[in-house]
Parts: sequence; C-alpha cells; structure tokens
Amino acid sequence: MPDETQTVTREMTPAAGGGAVAIEDRGAIRVLVIDNPPVNALAGRVRAGLQAALRTALADPAVDGLVIAAAGRIFVAGADITEFGKPPLPPALPDLLDEIEVAAKPVVAAIGGAALGGGLELALACHVRLVCPKAQLGLPEVKLGLLPGAGGTQRLPRLLDPAVTFGMIASGKPVDAARACALGLAEPAEGDLVGAAVARAEALACVGGPLPSAGERQADPTRREAFETAADKAIAADRDAFNLPAIADCVRAAFGDDLAAGLAVERAAFLDLMNDPRSAALRHLFFAEREAGKVPGVGRDTAARPITHVAVIGAGTMGGGIAMALVQAGLKVTLIESGADSLARGTARIHDLWANSIRRGSLSEEQAEARRALITGSIDLSDAAGADLVIEAVFEEMSVKTELFDRLDAIVPPDAIVATNTSYLDIDRIASAISHPERVIGLHFFSPANVMRLLEIVRGAATAPEAIATALALARRIGKLPVVVGNCPGFVGNRILGPRGVAAERLLLAGVAREAIDTAVTDFGFRMGPLAMGDLAGLDIGYRNRRAYGGFAPIADMMVEAGRLGQKTGAGYFAYPDGTRQGVADDAGAAMIAGKAAELGLAPHSLETPDILARLFYPMINEAARILDEGIAAGVSDIDLVWVNGYGWPAWRGGPMHWADREGLSKIADKLGQFAEESGDERLRPSALLARLAAVGGRFADLPRKS
Ligand code: 3HC
Ligand code: NAI
Repeated sequence: MPDETQTVTREMTPAAGGGAVAIEDRGAIRVLVIDNPPVNALAGRVRAGLQAALRTALADPAVDGLVIAAAGRIFVAGADITEFGKPPLPPALPDLLDEIEVAAKPVVAAIGGAALGGGLELALACHVRLVCPKAQLGLPEVKLGLLPGAGGTQRLPRLLDPAVTFGMIASGKPVDAARACALGLAEPAEGDLVGAAVARAEALACVGGPLPSAGERQADPTRREAFETAADKAIAADRDAFNLPAIADCVRAAFGDDLAAGLAVERAAFLDLMNDPRSAALRHLFFAEREAGKVPGVGRDTAARPITHVAVIGAGTMGGGIAMALVQAGLKVTLIESGADSLARGTARIHDLWANSIRRGSLSEEQAEARRALITGSIDLSDAAGADLVIEAVFEEMSVKTELFDRLDAIVPPDAIVATNTSYLDIDRIASAISHPERVIGLHFFSPANVMRLLEIVRGAATAPEAIATALALARRIGKLPVVVGNCPGFVGNRILGPRGVAAERLLLAGVAREAIDTAVTDFGFRMGPLAMGDLAGLDIGYRNRRAYGGFAPIADMMVEAGRLGQKTGAGYFAYPDGTRQGVADDAGAAMIAGKAAELGLAPHSLETPDILARLFYPMINEAARILDEGIAAGVSDIDLVWVNGYGWPAWRGGPMHWADREGLSKIADKLGQFAEESGDERLRPSALLARLAAVGGRFADLPRKS
C-alpha cells in the first residue's frame, strides 16, 4: 500500500495510483478525488489508488467516513475500455466495489458530471449518491456489445424498479440528475457538491448502525412480470442486440436473494461478451468515432467559423432533408429553388414529414412550428447573400453545379463557406468556378439527410483547414458523425460501393439467383441486399452515370432500357407488383437475365453463400485499400465508420476493414487473384497495399493513421 495514502492534510494530496486519486481530509471525512483525465476512466492505477486509499481510511481511527468525488467535468466514464482484451490489472473493479459496499464507514459518491458504466457502478457500491444538477447517470455498456460487469445489473434492479432499470441497461441511455433523484437512485445537492457529500457522510457516521446498500435486498418480485414483458419486447425489437438476452438473464438473477450469486452470473456473462468478436467490433467503432475527429492539418486551435444562417440550394430529396437537419438544430435556413413549383413541392414534402412525426408522437406541434419558422423559401439566388454557409444540392451535373457556383461568386461574401452535396463529382472542378476555392468543401449527406448520421466531409486540393473545422463543428451541432475524406470519384463510400455493384452484376450473369444474392447479404447483417437497394434508389441514376463516365452493369442497363427503373416503376432487378415494397423474383426478369448471360456466352454456375459474399465484398476491400494508399481516407477505421453509418454494414461486424482483418488478408488477396483471372478484370487484382500486407501476414488495423 503506498505511503501517500496515510497522509492527512487539509490540502489536496496527490496520492495512490501514481497521482490518479488525490486525497483531502475535511474534518473526519476523507475525500478521495479521482483525477485521471480526460474522462476519469477506472484504469488499473485508479482502481489501485482507490483501494489503497479506502483501506487506509478504514484503518484510520481519525477518519469517520469517505466521499468519492472526481476532478473535471466528468465523474467517471466507466471502466477503461483500452484495457479490455489485455491481461487484467489488479484489483478487479467488482472486487474493489465489493470492498466499498461492505465498508464499515459511510462512503458517499459526489457526482458532478457523467457517471457512466463502471462509474455508475462505483456510485452504486457507495452507500449514498449525491448529484449536482448537470449529472448524468447511465449504463451504456450495451452499446459496446457488453453488459454492466461490476454489479450494475445486480445493484440497480435491487435498488429501483427492475423493469425500469432493465430499460436503462438495455437502452444504454443515461438519466439526468432530476430523473435519477425522482427514481430514488440519487439525492440532489445544490451548490457545493463535495461539501454536501461531506455533510451527508458526517450525518451517516453520526447516526451509526447499518449503512444503506443498493444490493441489500432482492429485486421487487411484484415487478417481475413487467420486467419479463419489457425484456421480451426489447429482445424481439432489435435483432442486432446480441447481448440483450444475457442482460435479461443477469437482471433475472437480481430477483434472487443472494447478491453474490447474482454478481457471479453477471461476471460470467460479462466475460463471455468481452471475448465475443461482436463486442470487439463495437469497441473498435467506439474508438474509430473518436479517431475520425483527428484530421490531418486541422488542430484544436483551428478556428471554426460560427454558423447561424445557411442557404440550401435545391429543395429536392437531399436539399429538403439537409434543411430539416439544420433547423432541427436551431439554424436559420434559406431554401432556394429554381422555380415556384419546385419550391412549393419541396416545402410541402418537408411539412408532410413533420406532420408524420407529429402523428407518430415524436414531434410536438410547437416544435414543428418553431422549425417551420426557421425556414424561408426563395426562388431568388441572391437571397443566399446573408448566409455564412451555402450548401448546394442541385442536380448531379457538373455544368449545373459550376454554373451555380459561378453565379454564387457575385452573391456571397468571399469568406462565406460554399459546400456541395455532390455524390461523385470532382470538388476541385466545382471549386474552380468560384473565387477563393479555399472556402469550397464537400458536405456529402446521406439520404434521408435528416435521419442518417454519416456526413462525409470532402476536402478539395484548395480547401482551407478553417473550412474543415467549420464543417466538423457544424456536423456535431446537427448531430452528425463527420468523416473527412479526400477528393476522388465517389469519395470513400460510393467509390467502395462501385465494385460491389459490378460484382452483383457478375453474379447475376453467372446464373446466381437474385434472391440468393440479396439474402446472402441480409443474412450477413445488412438490412437490404444490393439489388433491392439499387431498385429503391432507382436504376436510372447509375445508368445516367454510366452513360457519362462508363461502368459495367449490363443487367441494370438492360432493365432501364426496358423501362424497369426500380420500385418507382413497379420493376427493376425485382418486380414490385401492386405497389409492394418487397421485391419478387419474377419470371420475366429471370428470363431477361438468362438471355443477357447467354448473349455474353456465360454458362450458369452454382455458388454457395460464402463464395457469393467473397465475390461481393473482397473487391470492396481491394478498392478500400487503394483509397488508403492514395490517402483519400486518413485512417483505416474511417472507412469502417463510413460503411457502418452510411451503407448499413452491420456494426457488430465492425465495418469492412475490421471484417477483412478477421477474414485474413492473404486469403482475400488469393481469391481476388482468382477472380481477376476468371473475369479478366484487372481491377480485381490485389492492390499494392493489400498485396504488401498479405505477403507479410499484416492487418489493416496495424496501419498508422495519417497525421
Ligand atoms: N475508457 C477509455 N477511454 C475512454 C473512455 C473509457 N471508458 N471513455 C472515453 N475515453 C476516451 C476517448 O477514447 C477519448 O480519447 P482520445 O482523446 O484519445 O480520442 C477521450 O476519452 C475523450 O472522449 P470523448 O471524445 O468521447 O469525450 P466527450 O467529452 O465527447 O464524451 C463521454 C465523454 C460521454 C464520457 C464519452 O467519452 C463516452 O461515452 N465514453 C464511454 C462511456 C462508456 O461506454 N462507459 C462504459 C465503459 S465499459 C464499462 O464501464 C464496463 C463496466 O461495466 C465493468
Ligand atoms: P433532386 O432531383 O431530388 O433535387 C434537386 C433539386 O435541385 C430539384 O428540386 C431542382 O429543382 C433543384 N435545382 C436544380 N437546379 C437548380 C438551381 N440552379 N437552383 C436551384 N435549384 C435547382 O436531387 P437529389 O437527389 O436531392 O440530389 C441532389 C444532389 O445531392 C446531387 O448532387 C446528388 O448527387 C446528391 N446526393 C443525392 C443523394 C440521394 O440519395 N438522392 C445522396 C447524396 C447526395
């Protein structure tokens, strides 16, 4: 036990755990202050520091009680996730919390900010919890594919309504201080939080007798049925939430009267999940999101321009959605169209969507009114003059975009940021149509733009760091996940989508049934197969692109030329009789596909699901490796974020690059070589980076991020 914990001073003393826990004595109450920036995660040295300080205080007759507080704006963000999957460092968190719970002197948690995961579990092991008004309490482990593994599934349902607490654990959503107090999870503290906690510890010490404990009684048996109903509903509602059954089992164990037995059930389930590759994938994405904020050339000190007023040009599918996303966050929007009819159509669509939300109960009439008031429609481009940011979402035609930028040049001030929502076009060519190209940036929203979380921020050759910093700040303000990418046709997401489309066409030509292709992909975990997705978006979009820029999709071309444009015309790859949205593999379509294969001299093959997936996904991995090699993505995990958040790659598979590492890069490279031989498509040959990694048994995960 480190000597420093013996120190009793009126000053804050850096103490055990290499300074991660400081000690201050206030009268007979010892205050332990966790100080482990940035988020006070319960790393090994924090646990060791707390344990040493606790034991010292319990053995010290001059100490009557303890307060556990934390430095900084966050109480404790939970266990240290970077330690997961590594050899465990003593003491284990559950053991430390057991020691706190059975301490003979009162221990009060003083929660000044977020107490999440292990942070809330630490507080639950304390005898009393005091919260200041901005505290947030929650168990978000579910989002990492885990469950609370330090007593959360046992102490919380034993303390509060088990049905309510199951909801908290299953959703991972925190409650605020007011709700925590209303539930009986914590007591409110106004003003000096630590002072109030010290007073509470003194009072408990003074009263004497048994100390309150969250785990002292079993979960309320009268709420068992409500819990079971809530658990069944949650499990049925989310097929991806693989950890919910284990969470329900743990909470079920809280109905037993033996806390230790319940804790053992929880521990075993936690360790199982910790070793589950699906949890590893979700943890990878947690860190990927934080990595994506580290953008080469853009530092913390790069000034972001304040944005209050945005001009959105084009009120079609994307412009309307973008306008909605902006006003949802309280920004003022001028929505500009080329004509009164298209403006009226666009505005009506927005109002209809809000009306639907009101009907569903997810939006109040007052909120809708406030949003409506923030949008001003116009058919006069000069109304963009007052905006700090312009986002164009007009037709995907280079000439339309450059003409618009040329006109904007005379309208917007030279420091206004001008963004394009183009899906594929060259940002630098668009930027060349306006003066000060350093303020031009791509803001590639995904459809529906008011819902989808991903925002690809495209940096052109001239784009200034300030423009990127502004886009990042805006993205966060409107609740998007920004990923900064470089300029190339299709950027990261759509460029990787391209090879999958080609592969799907080749599979069709090889005689693989349409439903076999889509089912392989939906069974893998996507919500939609590539053919159904093409039909939903409209096959004519790709067709027009291929006419302009080339590309391989003989079946889609044939379908479009036969008037089968997708769902909107009742048929595309699949048929959609009577307006159904579920595609049917119709005979007419099958005959057309077989006819095209015969015309190209291709004999039908039969392929098993793993082969179908390899042919669809390996070419995507190859293209992604090229993207990395070209520096279009700054880091491997950025690609995973784009595909998980923009294209439905199942999160529990971690994204294409994470998945590829698990598949094995040499296997992927070998197969790609074989596909290239068979098809004569040289693009399928393993890219330089993939070949290099495959040759040395390397992994994408080991590649450094560009800085
Ligand atoms: N462990 C390790 N590092 C963590 C961490 C954790 N629990 N939480 C955050 N960090 C790191 C981030 O990776 C980031 O590092 P970087 O600066 O090197 O990129 C840094 O802390 C700051 O994080 P954010 O950028 O996310 O900071 P914000 O202020 O935006 O958000 C937060 C703060 C709300 C606490 C957010 O970080 C968060 O949600 N953290 C995770 C909370 C969580 O999931 N807790 C459960 C952990 S599992 C657990 O407790 C198991 C237990 O039951 C046994
Ligand atoms: P859309 O056809 O639904 O809407 C375009 C709108 O722009 C139309 O309402 C049109 O009247 C208007 N418009 C055209 N020229 C204009 C001008 N000079 N001034 C003002 N308004 C003008 O098209 P959509 O789907 O919204 O696409 C817009 C842009 O967003 C394109 O660049 C597209 O590639 C991109 N995009 C589309 C996605 C999608 O899923 N639809 C996804 C991501 C990006």
